[in-house]
Parts: sequence; structure tokens; C-alpha cells
Amino acid sequence: MWNEIKSNISSALVYFREFILFLILVVLIIFLLIDNTSLSVPLIILLIVVGIIVLNLIGRRRIKEIDEIKEIISSIRLSKYESSSEIFLSKHLDALENEIKQMFEKTKNDIEYLERLQKMRSQFLANVSHELRTPIFAIQGYIETLLNGALNDPKVNKHFLGKAELHTVNLSNLLNDLIDISMIESGEMRMSYRYFDINEFIKNIVSEFSLIAEEKNVQLIFNPANIGLQVFGDKERLRQVFVNLIQNAIKYTDSGSVEIGYEEEKKFVNIIVKDTGIGIPQEDIDRIFERFYRVDKARSKAVGGTGLGLAIVKHIIDAHSSKIFVESVLGEGSKFSFKLKK
Ligand SMILES: Nc1ncnc2c1ncn2[C@@H]1O[C@H](COP(=O)(O)OP(=O)(O)O)[C@@H](O)[C@H]1O
Ligand SMILES: [Mg+2]
Repeated sequence: MWNEIKSNISSALVYFREFILFLILVVLIIFLLIDNTSLSVPLIILLIVVGIIVLNLIGRRRIKEIDEIKEIISSIRLSKYESSSEIFLSKHLDALENEIKQMFEKTKNDIEYLERLQKMRSQFLANVSHELRTPIFAIQGYIETLLNGALNDPKVNKHFLGKAELHTVNLSNLLNDLIDISMIESGEMRMSYRYFDINEFIKNIVSEFSLIAEEKNVQLIFNPANIGLQVFGDKERLRQVFVNLIQNAIKYTDSGSVEIGYEEEKKFVNIIVKDTGIGIPQEDIDRIFERFYRVDKARSKAVGGTGLGLAIVKHIIDAHSSKIFVESVLGEGSKFSFKLKK
């Protein structure tokens, strides 16, 4: 009992200054209003007793509230709550209850986000190891076969070396894409925006691919519409976007054409890369921008794909505050488009 009163009062002593100020004020008033000292002394004693009782009550309430808050915080610390709706405080602590609930939700979301990130990271690492294994095993296999005698067999030795070389090219493409994607995703990619001539730019890239398209019997078409048209963007990074899209269009087209074009709008230029290729199944369209996602893994690998190209493309277009769109009809072709500021 005494101990409880003592601790109540000591808890209420945070209001000690206010309490003393109040006492002094009341004592002064008593002295001013009542001349009779014989009456004012018991009045002051009564006042002090009442004061101590009030302090005790305030302290008790304060301890109760702090205990309630402490209980909630320790329950959160010990992960006792599944959802914020399980958190309750007394009615008059509504505002605090709300704050705690919001803090709880935020922490929960942050943790879930970190867990997702961690999972994605492990998945990415597993994917990378898997992708690296394929060319390395193949190269190892060809070298072993050559060392075991095939080297002296003129019928196969060059063929095996050629195959091994192809896998080293795949390996180096994969490493380059990996370096790009990790730079982009860690935010290390510095963008440098400026105006440049879009026609010259596309013409240069198209001419690099003319031989490859010709070999595949795919017609590569680009007809500049507005000579001298300038667009705003990071030229080097956009080069990567065009190379990836045109490369894919040629790779996944067995006959017909790949056409690069643009439509001018008021403030933007809508760039279009269109092919008459194999197309993309509707259910895969949303996933082709994911790292390592391929519709047909065997085909992608056979044509030297890393599965990272479109993930890089999407990052670069996003960095231009733009969006990449795909329309595709299976067996008829695909159309990739995105807008650039002009
Ligand atoms: N023009 C296209 N026509 C058909 N399928 C495409 C086209 N572009 C991309 N794809 C599909 O999207 C997948 C992802 O593309 P990308 O990230 O560039 O990887 P890849 O290295 O396989 O080319 C490809 O494996 C392919 O299945
Ligand atoms: Mg690609």
C-alpha cells in the first residue's frame, strides 16, 4: 500500500514543478483572503494533504498508461501480433494507438520487402550460376574431347573448336549483360541526357545489322520520316535498347521483315520495332521483361540469348521516365514501342 503510494507519487513527480507552483498560488490566495492565521494554517495543511492525494491519483494513472504502452511495445518486439488490428490502448489514447498501428504496419511491410528482396537475390544468384554452367560445361566438354584424340581428327577438330568458341561468345555476352544489369540495379548507371538526331542514330544501328538480317533472309526496313528530327535521351543507353530490340526481332523472325519506325506526337516520338516473327504467347507477354525469362529457352540459347536483354531494355526505358509496350500475335509477329521526348 505505502509502497504503491510512494511509487505513484514518484511517478507523478514529473509534474512537481506545476504542483509546487499551484501550491504557492493557493497559499498566497489564502494569505491574501484570510487574515485569521489560526484558520489559514489548518487550511494549508488540508491543502497539502489534498495535494498529496491528487498526486497519488495522477501517478497511478500515469503508471497504468505507461504499463499499457510498455506491454504493447514488448508484444511487438516479441512478434506477438499478426496484424495491427490486435493492438489496443485505452480509449483516451486513441491517437497514440493509431501511431503505433501505423508504425507496426510500416515495420511489417519493410520486413516483408526485405525478405522478398533477399529471396529475389538468392534466386538471381541461382539463375546466374545455372546460366554460367551451361557454356562452361560445353567448353570443358569440347576441350576434353579434343584432348582425348579428336584434335587429330580433321573431320571434327575445327567443328569442335568452332562450337567451343561460340560458347565463349555466349559466356562473354552473358557477363556483359550481368555487369550492365547489376550496375543498373545498384543505381550506378549514370545517365547523360542530350538531344540527338534520331534518324542518323537508327540508320547507324540498322546498318550494323544488315548483314545478319540478310543472312537470315529477313528484310530490315527503316524509312526516316522527318529528316533532322531530334529526340532527348541517353544516346549510349538507347543504343543498347535499339540493339536489343532489333537483335530480338531478327532472332525470333524466320521469314519476312523487321521494321523500325516512329510516329511523331506533339511532345513525343513513339519509336516502333515491329517484326513478322514467331510472336509471343499472350500468357508470357507480361513476363518477358523479367531477368532470365524466355518463352522458349532452347531457342533463345541456340541463338545466343542471355535472357537479360529485355530486362536491361526495360530499366533503360524506365530511367527515361517512359514505358515499353508490346503487342504480339503468336505466329504473326511482335511490336515493341516506347516514347522519347522530342
Ligand atoms: N521480337 C520477339 N519475337 C518473339 N519473341 C521475343 C521477341 N523479343 C523477345 N522475345 C521473347 O522474350 C524473351 C526475352 O527476351 P530477351 O530478354 O531479349 O532474352 P533473349 O536473350 O532470350 O533474347 C526471349 O527469350 C523470347 O522468348
Ligand atoms: Mg534478347
